Amino acid sequence: MTARITLRRPDDWHLHLRDGAMLEGVLPETARHFGRAIVMPNLVPPVVTGDDARAYRDRIMACLPSGMDFTPLMTLYLTEATDPHDLARAHAEGVVTAVKLYPAGATTNSQSGVRDITRVQPVLEKMAEIGLPLCIHGEVTTPEVDIFDREQVFLDTVLDPLRRAIPALRVTLEHITTSQGIDYVAGASGDIAGTITTHHLMINRNHILVGGIRPHYYCLPVAKRSTHQQALRKAAISGNPRFFLGTDSAPHTDDAKQSACGCAGVFSATNTLSCLAHVFEAEGALDRLEGFTSLFGPARYGLPVADQTITLEKRDTPVPYPARIITGAGPVTLFDPGHPLYWHVIA
Ligand code: DOR
Ligand code: ZN
Repeated sequence: MTARITLRRPDDWHLHLRDGAMLEGVLPETARHFGRAIVMPNLVPPVVTGDDARAYRDRIMACLPSGMDFTPLMTLYLTEATDPHDLARAHAEGVVTAVKLYPAGATTNSQSGVRDITRVQPVLEKMAEIGLPLCIHGEVTTPEVDIFDREQVFLDTVLDPLRRAIPALRVTLEHITTSQGIDYVAGASGDIAGTITTHHLMINRNHILVGGIRPHYYCLPVAKRSTHQQALRKAAISGNPRFFLGTDSAPHTDDAKQSACGCAGVFSATNTLSCLAHVFEAEGALDRLEGFTSLFGPARYGLPVADQTITLEKRDTPVPYPARIITGAGPVTLFDPGHPLYWHVIA
């Protein structure tokens, strides 16, 4: 008997599309399978005002191949100069779905991010008042803190105090990589959710470092030890609606990745759904996949569940996806789960 699974059309609650030739190259990879995506604002220069977000949304829509149906959900990049009134206006006009907090220096193009969280308190209070969610890159940037501990330390020293100071703030802790992050989101009172990436379900830090350095597995937050990976898998298949998919698919050209100082980011848009079906099947939880990819995110953001569906079929032959996609900005290597995938998206 052929195994098949039909899901409401998935959404990606954390995605990097970039701009220009890269945007043009990667957008179809997401739009082929996903109906909507929260689009990250860490362009150069970043998307900081409502007008920036509107213009970026227009550039994305102008790149969308005809016949593809995809809605970008825009975010603003929070800076210490963000104007609460501009942000509230952009929200009221339906231009932005969320605001992104990058601690300054935490990751790619985060230098305009927040150095002192108290300086954005008025903006965060405004967001709590109008119900605009804050998506958080949850890592401290303190040089003394080990890179493998940066998420855990963020929970105690930044996130928890912030949520106590502004209890009504709606928070999404993004790309969770630790069991402590999972436990925090699962156990916290109030309005909080967490996204989990495809690659963090499939790799741990050994994949990056054993047998040679593998730059295409390097991302931020960096993958942790396998016990954390197991905690992420358990949360993803748990059916807890606080946890849903944000791929953090983050394209960089091979030149930028394969360098003495390679960029952080894993590009997984093309094969994410085949990867996820593989993981959920291995965990005996295929019946929970739809919640993770297609139901819990819309519920969280107050958006309707998709009326379209997508069907995956398990075949004997592996899914034929390319090792890299060719974009006008250069080749971009696709996430390699390390083994063949048999779940084909067929419709
Ligand atoms: O690995 C990452 N890549 N993590 C981030 O937070 C940013 C992203 C990017 O923009 O490349
Ligand atoms: Zn990201």
